[in-house]
Amino acid sequence: MPKVTIDGHTIEVPNGTTILEAARMIGGEIVPPAMCYYSKLKTTGGYCRTCIVKVSKGSEKDPRPMPKPVASCRTTVMDGMEVQNITSPDLLEARAGVVEFLLLNHPLDCPICDQAGECHLQDLGYQNGKVKTRYEFDRREFDPIDIGDKIKLHMKRCIHCFRCVKLAEQLTPARYHGMLNRGDHSEISTYIQHAVDNEFSGNMIDVCPVGALTDRTFRFKSRVWYVNPEDAHRKCDKCSGKVRLWLKGEEVLRVTARKDKYGEVIDWICNECRFDKKKTSDWVIEGPTHIDRHSVISANHYESLKSLKLDVDKQKKQLVNTKNLLGQGALNPNNQ
Ligand code: SF4
Ligand code: FES
Repeated sequence: MPKVTIDGHTIEVPNGTTILEAARMIGGEIVPPAMCYYSKLKTTGGYCRTCIVKVSKGSEKDPRPMPKPVASCRTTVMDGMEVQNITSPDLLEARAGVVEFLLLNHPLDCPICDQAGECHLQDLGYQNGKVKTRYEFDRREFDPIDIGDKIKLHMKRCIHCFRCVKLAEQLTPARYHGMLNRGDHSEISTYIQHAVDNEFSGNMIDVCPVGALTDRTFRFKSRVWYVNPEDAHRKCDKCSGKVRLWLKGEEVLRVTARKDKYGEVIDWICNECRFDKKKTSDWVIEGPTHIDRHSVISANHYESLKSLKLDVDKQKKQLVNTKNLLGQGALNPNNQ
């Protein structure tokens, strides 16, 4: 099994492992960001270049460094390879350049975008971006399009990661949308605005790293940091039925698939669970979701508030029980 060292951490990995996967096995800050790679979908990666790393030693056999940064999601580990991510200032500078490119045509509409607060591009911009853009031309403009009655496409926010296209190809029986044209003219299109109408199409919303594909049943209902995510499940014959409910009080504003710490869906869910089950009584609620990812959602500490509330409720219940017992004289030592 080949050994690779990433930012000073050495790990032995199975043959064929990519640098990005090896970094995820190590975990922590050294894991490169990934805007197009999606471990749950085949042939993703290689489009966005955010995962670039510096290979300072090619392998034990051929120790020459690679001449330019490589996409870690597409580069396989070689035995003895040495990789730099956060320990290379040059590489971080190059990644800032990639982010600048991704933002060239991306509108600065975070204040009105439903994805704000859980947008991977927003996080990437904060962590790796520059304060100012050098771009002087007008950004591309598109009118929003309805893809069926449940999904809205804002093409101007799309970063051409291809995840939604791969998902439609691999998860649904037919795909009616794809990437049209090339370069600056590329756009996700459904040709004649065909509805993407099948049981698992809603997962496109979850894989989209930005706010280009949004849930029409949730749009403009709330900012995500005002809603509390809770894990829940129901018996479903189409999917696992394991979801995340986004609650405001007792109201279910949105249902999504559960995601792991890299923002990837754990189990795909069907459209019935996602769009049609919007009552708490439809679900068995398991408890507050722990959000691993750097996010404003976890910043509001709702998890600890929720546990505090559960504690207070428990103490209140105990107090009432004690009062009742006292009223019945059960706790009077003279009665024992
Ligand atoms: S719509 Fe979203 S998922 Fe599809 S290519 Fe654009 S950014 Fe990627
Ligand atoms: S995540 Fe590797 S190129 Fe996009």
